[in-house]
This record gives sequence, structure tokens and C-alpha cells, in this order.
Amino acid sequence: MKFEQAWLDYTGKVFCDGADEISYIHLEIQEKEQDEVIKNSVKELQNAFAGLTGHKLTLHEEGLSGGDEAAYTAADAGAGLHKIRLVLQKGMPAESYRLYTEENGITIEASDSRGILYGAFDLIRQVKTGNSIKDLDRTKSPVMPMRMLNHWDNMDGSIERGYSGESFFFENNTILVNDRTDTYARLAASVGINAVVINNVNVKDAATWLITERYLDKVKELSDVLAGYGIQMYMSLNYAAPVELGELDSADPLSEDVRGWWKRRMEFVFRKVPNLGGFLIKADSEGRPGPFTYGRTHADGANMLAEAAAPYGGNIIWRCFVYNCQQDWRDYKTDRARSGYDNFQGLDGKFLDNVVLQIKNGPMDFQVREPVHPLFGGLKQTNQILEVQIAQEYTGQQRHLCYLIPMFQEILKFRTYIKEENDTVEDIVSGRTFRQHNCGMAAVANTGNDVNWTGHDMAAANLYGFGRLAFEPELSAEEIAREWIFMTFGKDSQIEETLLFMLMSSWPAYEKYTSPLGIGWMVNPNYHYGPSVDGYEYSRWGTYHRADHMGIGVDRSHEGTGYALLYNEPNASVYDDKRRCPDELLLFFHHIPYTWMLRSGKTVIQHIYDTHFEGVEMVDEMIERFMKLQDKMDKVKYRRIVERFMEQKENAEEWRDQINAYFYRKSGISDEKGRDIY
Ligand code: GCU
Repeated sequence: MKFEQAWLDYTGKVFCDGADEISYIHLEIQEKEQDEVIKNSVKELQNAFAGLTGHKLTLHEEGLSGGDEAAYTAADAGAGLHKIRLVLQKGMPAESYRLYTEENGITIEASDSRGILYGAFDLIRQVKTGNSIKDLDRTKSPVMPMRMLNHWDNMDGSIERGYSGESFFFENNTILVNDRTDTYARLAASVGINAVVINNVNVKDAATWLITERYLDKVKELSDVLAGYGIQMYMSLNYAAPVELGELDSADPLSEDVRGWWKRRMEFVFRKVPNLGGFLIKADSEGRPGPFTYGRTHADGANMLAEAAAPYGGNIIWRCFVYNCQQDWRDYKTDRARSGYDNFQGLDGKFLDNVVLQIKNGPMDFQVREPVHPLFGGLKQTNQILEVQIAQEYTGQQRHLCYLIPMFQEILKFRTYIKEENDTVEDIVSGRTFRQHNCGMAAVANTGNDVNWTGHDMAAANLYGFGRLAFEPELSAEEIAREWIFMTFGKDSQIEETLLFMLMSSWPAYEKYTSPLGIGWMVNPNYHYGPSVDGYEYSRWGTYHRADHMGIGVDRSHEGTGYALLYNEPNASVYDDKRRCPDELLLFFHHIPYTWMLRSGKTVIQHIYDTHFEGVEMVDEMIERFMKLQDKMDKVKYRRIVERFMEQKENAEEWRDQINAYFYRKSGISDEKGRDIY
């Protein structure tokens, strides 16, 4: 299957002050320290410069090139920049680099090979985005220690919640390692991703066998390709593997037999695949097996695996997405939103150091708007990873444009008040709050084997943006968007302004024309695309809006489920009080009459009508502006994007009309502005 290079397309020359002068790479790294990552850094620089400047950079290795020495010295003598020096320099933090201009060249300095690779990609970014390289001096250290992608790929080639084709890791229960794997690794590494989980968290069928002889040679091959770009490979694990592989009749984490089985299994797997980073586990969640079956806690389960993986430096990433998915909709007290906190907060301090809890950004499930998960701010002695979803399961499935980086940024900036300072989600998951190293961010990936990787061309901004944000969260969402636009479409001010407008309006637009004021859901059950207001209302999933003729919303205050009180003060009091709760989350926390005056000065019902009309108008404006780029953009990409937008428009109108009609019929209150409501 054919594929494009996304933002790593090096065809077509660019203007970059200084780049034209560079003619060679000076590798000042001893041969024994030249691992695959260093070699790939050199290769990447050579390919990029060849395409972007037309110069084939030769490689000069100190001490090796002998006779050429004179030629290189002569080349250096003239004015201008001649070379790129790659230097390993002890003393810098892991994965960091310094990229700077000297009299006759550019230097990339780092204390490890990943730092060199990230510096090389940064230099390429400077060249491709047309920044002058005559005056560089940048020192960068990734803020998140773990910057992961979680692929929900199944071994039959399908992808759970995949919106861009089939898997490029698996096909017909085999593992694929080919050109595409290489390009994937380059794309991921170019934005600083350093860990990848290759298979779906729901581990079933053949995937249970990934830790057996049947697959390990190929697993190793894949892990080596990724390692060549500084990426540690992880696999999702079936908690009940000893049972499902037919070797034991229990998976009780306190049974000596089971513990011994895992020790032997881990030894076997890590011996075969020494690059492996460890495992991701979804246990006791949505039908997956876990320690609850044996009356044990999640700490018992995670620690059993962690103990077995520890001798090989393996990590156990344990998901906190544990809730009762057999709820009765008549029950107003059981609250799915509480479950992550209720299941894990009491275990704080009980996990081994190589266990990391992976916590979704919100307490429900990647809705367009949710409060921040209360476990952030509820755990003090536990390693934590923030899980976000760039696969747009509930945000338009990569058929709608929804640039999620502004949302992620809001989440990172949220103050948890777990301490007086350094208490934001970013502080916690970067390790600053509690001096942790096993922490960071993970995104459920949005890639597949579509020619453009992400289905919607513009969804690639989320893939690019996630990596950049995890590396440098101080970048603004606009800065990241601009970078991605330049890297992907070149430097043209009309393209830049138009696409920037579209990206930055897209999350607000999507929020406006779908479910209002933080209530979420209202989507078609199972496949989660398009409106269905009552789709989840009388089901077992714990996902209700509780709308009646008077009002709507879930009472999660102290009078309701008490969820609001799981936050630290002052957040708890703010969320608990309907007068102080932010409008955008009001219906998440409270059941509110349609006539209630929001802080914005509008009633709830009028807000619903207005936002739904506005959301669609925003889509119309995006389309109108985008159409003006017809003569400026690559024809194929232009056509693909227009097609997606036509579907988005139609679907957004459907959302608007169904939501408005539903609430008009429920409330009997007319739109003040007298617009069409059906
Ligand atoms: C959602 C999603 C599932 C997924 C689950 C998870 O419920 O719809 O497909 O398996 O999240 O995060 O584990």
C-alpha cells in the first residue's frame, strides 16, 4: 500500500538562510558509540538536506577519513556555514540537546543518541520552516519523560476506533515490518515520541500469543526498527494470559504458581526482546479479566507483573479505566465518573516503582468536554501517565476537523491543588511535583494504513501536535499548529492564516454543534458517530443526561453522587456550587432547569439553540475560507480535505437540528431568535 511522508516530505527546495552553505556532516562521535540512532540521525540529515537544499552532505568521521582531512579543512576555510557537527557531550540531561551556530557550522550536542536525533530533527524543522540557521542557539529538554503512542491495533489488521484504514503493524495475525514501519518510526521520533504500544488494550485471540515463541522473533524485529529511532516498544498484555494460553487454571496475583509463571514468562520475553519497554494492561474493565476475579486489588495485580519485569528494566503501565459497565439507568447514585478515583485512590503508595498508572484525561471517556480526572491531585506516591485520545472517537472520527491540542493544553494547565505550587497536571505527569521519572503522556493513536496516515489530512496536526506538546508543553497550540502547517504545506501566508484559523476554531465548533455544557455522549451507541440524544440514556454504560421537560444534567454535587467533592479545594466547592461551576461543565455537575441563567447571561435553553447554530456557521466559514486555497494547494490534498468538509457540514447540520429539536420538544420553549427548529 502506497503512503505519503506527511510532514517529513523533503521534496521541493525551500529557502532557508544558511542551509545552502552546508556541505558535510562532521561526526565527532567515536565508532563504538555510534548506535543505530546516531546512524539514523546522519541519514535523516542527509536525506533532508538533499531534498530541501539540493546538497548531498558527505560524511566526515573523525579519525576515519584520513586522506580527506585536508579537503575538509580546506572546505572550512571560506566564509559561511560548512558543516553540521554531531557531538556527544557528557553532562546534559537525558534526551536533551543543544543546537547552535558556530563560525563555520552548526553543532548538535547531546549526552545520548536520542538527544542527537531530536537535535537533528529540530535542525531539519528550522530548515523546512524557513527559519534562518545563521544564529541558532537552542537548548531543549523534553518535559515529559514518557511520550507514548498507544495503538489499538488488532492482529487481524483491524483497528479499534481506527479511522484511517487498517493496521500497519499487523495483518492476518502476522506482524508486519517493512518500509512503512521505518517511516512510522521516523514520523514518531521527529516529534519526540519515545515509546509505542503496538497492540490494542483489549487483548484477545492471537494477541494473547504475542508473548510466546510464535511471535517473539518478529516482535524483536519490530522493536529493533523502533529502537533505531529511540523508541521503546511496549505491548498490551492479557491479564489472564496464563489461563488463556492453557497453562494454568488461575491468574490469581497472590498465587505462587501464577507468580512463578509470570517470572519465567518475563524472563523468556525480555531475553528474546531486550529492547522491550514493558507492558500496558487493561484489567477488570469492559469485560477484560483482572485481579477482581480473585478478590484481589489492582495493586496486587500490577505488582505481580512489575516484580516479574523488574530484573529486565520493564515497566508495567496499568490503566485506571475501571468502572461498572453493567449499570442500571434507574440508579441515580452509582456514578461512573467516580469509579476511577474510588478504585485507585486508596491504593496510593502501594504500587512498585516500575508501575505507572495510566489515567484518562477525564473521568468518563474522551468526550469533547470533561472535567480533569480527579485522580490527578488524588495520588501522591504513584507514578502517573496522562492518557489522551488523538483517535477522534467522540470528536468526529477524523471526518470532522477537531484540533485537540488546545484541549490537551487546558488539561495540562489545570491546577489540582495537591500542593501549594507545582500542582498542575503538567507538573504531576512531568515528574516535577513528586520528583518522579516513570511518568508522562500517552495518546491513543490516530494512524492507519491510509495513504496520508490519518484519514483526514488535517488530523495529522493532532499526531504532530501531541508529540510536540509532550516534548515542549510551553509551546502554544497556535505555535504547534503553525509549525505543522509550514512543515506540511510549506510557507505561504494565505495557507498559514487559513489553516491556522480552521485548526483553532475546530474544537470550539465541534463542541458547539454537539452535546452542550459538558454533558457529553448523545452519540450513536457502539460506533459513536453522529447524533443520538437518547442513544445512551437507558443503557448499561453509566452515561446519562437525565433530560426531562424541566431541565437536564447529572447531579454530581454533595446532594447527588458526591463526585464534585473528590477534587481538592477550592475545586471541590467551585464544582459543587451551580452558581460557581464553569458554564462549560455545568451539566456535568448539576441538574439544571432550561430557564437557568448561565454566567454568560443566557438561559440554558437559549445557549443550546445559539451554540448549535453558531457551530454550523463556524463550519461554513471554515469551508468558505478553505475553498480559496484551491489554486495554492496540492490538488490531491485539497480534494481530500474538501471531501471531508462536505461530510462534516452535513453531519454538523444533523447534530444541530436533532439537538435543537429534541430540547425544543422537551422544554416547549421557543428560540428567542425564531430560527428553524424542527
Ligand atoms: C472506550 C472505547 C473502547 C476502548 C475503551 C478503552 O470505551 O469505546 O473501544 O476499548 O474506551 O479505553 O479501553
